[in-house]
Parts: sequence; structure tokens; C-alpha cells
Amino acid sequence: MIAARNGRPGRARLAALGAYVPERVVTNADMERHVDTSDEWIVTRTGIRERRYAAPEQATSDLAVLAAEDVLRNAGIDAAEIDVVIVPTCTPDHLFPSVSATTAHRVGARNAAAFDLQAACSGFIYGLAQATALVESGIARNVLVVGAEVFSKILDMSDRGTCILFGDAAAGALVTSGDPEATAGFLGFELGADGSQAMDICIPVGGTRIPASQPFAPDQAFLKMNGREVYKFATRVMEESIVRLLDRLELSIADVDLLVAHQANQRIIDHAVKRLGIDESRVFNNLERYGNTSAASIPLALTEARDAGALRPGALVLLVGFGAGLTWASCIVRYEPE
Ligand code: UT7
Repeated sequence: MIAARNGRPGRARLAALGAYVPERVVTNADMERHVDTSDEWIVTRTGIRERRYAAPEQATSDLAVLAAEDVLRNAGIDAAEIDVVIVPTCTPDHLFPSVSATTAHRVGARNAAAFDLQAACSGFIYGLAQATALVESGIARNVLVVGAEVFSKILDMSDRGTCILFGDAAAGALVTSGDPEATAGFLGFELGADGSQAMDICIPVGGTRIPASQPFAPDQAFLKMNGREVYKFATRVMEESIVRLLDRLELSIADVDLLVAHQANQRIIDHAVKRLGIDESRVFNNLERYGNTSAASIPLALTEARDAGALRPGALVLLVGFGAGLTWASCIVRYEPE
């Protein structure tokens, strides 16, 4: 429960991870059946080989609940101990109510406040920043952050420039209050937004600018993207954000044990890796199996990195993302789950 500040706040700690991906696998060969594309084009230009799609009856909160339960299981914590549930998402079940309130209710987090966070693919890192602030101000002790997206239901399946890129998933983390003197935890964040490019990724219809009550062309209710402009933005801000964050923390890229970047396009990640000079053995990607799962992509990659042994206790981890807004975010965390 969110309460008044009480005693000496602890230091925010990344205590556990968890994920859920829907069962249905959609390959590039499946994509070839409904748009003029090829496995070869998709793999060379994006690195994606397949993605997951939610079942027709599954909405975003259905994925978020399963991911949240996985985080709670891994954390060994009772849902009633959660103070806040944050769901970063840009594909909510409804404009409102929030996915987070539904998720909190369904996992039994009956003492939790809940809110959604709209920073698109940067949302998970924005959510970690919120969780850190809540914990380190003494307002909350246990904050669950679950990025959850069902992109398959907002894609124009006749637009080859977008439909091949995105997939559905949910994944998240538990941020808890740890030893105030500990060196583990969140070392710093660098968050930003540039609304001048707002319409470069958007869904034109369905909000208050063009309400669904007005006549509209059917394709306007789907995701629209100016891929080239977003690509240019991403390659610029990922590097700039990381350099600013490392400088502020007086760290160098050589101090980083693991880089997990937003899984949008392998070429964008490779560009950042090359520019920063980080060894590829210290970079974890799973884009080829899931495509871009927006707010779920970084926690999903982190969870799989943990399972693959690439994310080890004590590791200094660098996270970086970018997305609609346009937004960007980076974060450095010392991973000490125990
Ligand atoms: O989380 C943030 C989400 N957004 C992103 O991460 C998007 C960032 N942008 C990108 O990843 C890339 O811009 C794309 C993958 C979307 C596109 O790759 P590109 O190398 O920038 O291609 P392009 O848009 O410059 O298009 C090159 C050609 C075009 O044909 P013409 O005009 O040269 O004849 C496109 O029509 O590739 C064509 N094309 C395709 N061809 C086969 C575009 N999509 C496809 C496709 N299959 N799926």
C-alpha cells in the first residue's frame, strides 16, 4: 500500500525477473503469405525470423497477468506484499481502465496502487525509474513493473513496412527496497522525449484528436510508422543517451558486463554496439525469435539472458531503449537478485 514516508528508505534493487510469451509462432514464411515480402528481406534488414501472436481471446492484461505471476514466483513474494503495479504499455486492453489495475486485481495484489505508463518501447526503463523513485523516497517497498503488449491486434497486416516487425509478449521485474548502504541496485537513468517527431510512430484514430465516433479510413486505426526517420532517431539517441549516462556516472563502456538494448532491429543494435565499442560477447539479443515487443522487449531479453547464464549476479547491466513519442531511455543497474 502506498503510505506516508516511514523510516529510512532502502536502496532500490532489481530483485527478480519474469516473462510470458503467447504460444502461436508466426514465421517470416507466414508473413510472405499475406504481404509482398521475403524471409531474406526481413532477416537481412531486421534480424527477425519469427514472432509470437496472442490468441484471439487474449488481451494485453491476460499476458501481463501471466508475466506478473512468473515474476512473483521467481521473487518468492506474496502478491499481497506488492505496493505498486506499473504496466508500461502502448497497446492497452482499453483506453481506460488501466491494464495495471486489472493485472493487480487478477494476481491478488490487493494492497497495490496501479497505473499504466505510456512511453512505448522506452516504457520499461521509464517504469524502472518510477519504481526506483517510489522505493528510494520511502513511498513503496515492492514495485512490480510489467511491460505488456499485444501489437498483433493494432497492425495493418497489408503494410509490409510495419507488420513484419512487431510481436506480442509480456515481461517484467520486481523492484524492492534493499540495504541503503548497498552498492547493488540502480546506479542511474537517462530519460528523454522529443515530441517534434510525435507522428513518426502513431495510431491516428481512436483518441481525442480523431475520435472513433467520426468517419475514418479503416487503415487509420492501425499503427503507422515512418521507418526511416525512426531508424535515424534510434541510431542517434541510443548512443547519445548511453554516453551521457556513462559520463555522469564516471563509468566507461568497459565497465559494463552486459548490454540489453530494445529489440527492434538488429541493424540498429549493431550500429550502437560498433559505435560504443562494446564486445559482442557482452550483448544479449533475442530479437530473431520475438521481433519488436515494445515495452516487453527489454525485460523479455533480460529474463532469457538470466536463463541462458548471460546475466549473472553481480553483473553491471546497461539497458537502452527508444520508441514512440518519440522517447528514449537508458539505465545502469548492478544485478544482485539475492
Ligand atoms: O520500437 C521502435 C519501432 N520502430 C523501429 O524500430 C523502426 C526503425 N526502422 C527500421 O527498422 C527500418 O527502417 C525498417 C525495417 C522499418 C525498414 O528498413 P529500411 O532498410 O529502412 O527500408 P526502407 O524503408 O528504406 O525501404 C527500402 C525498400 C523499399 O522499397 P523501394 O522504395 O526501395 O522500392 C520498401 O518498400 O524496402 C521495401 N520494403 C520491403 N520489402 C520487402 C519495406 N518493407 C519491406 C518488406 N519486405 N517487409
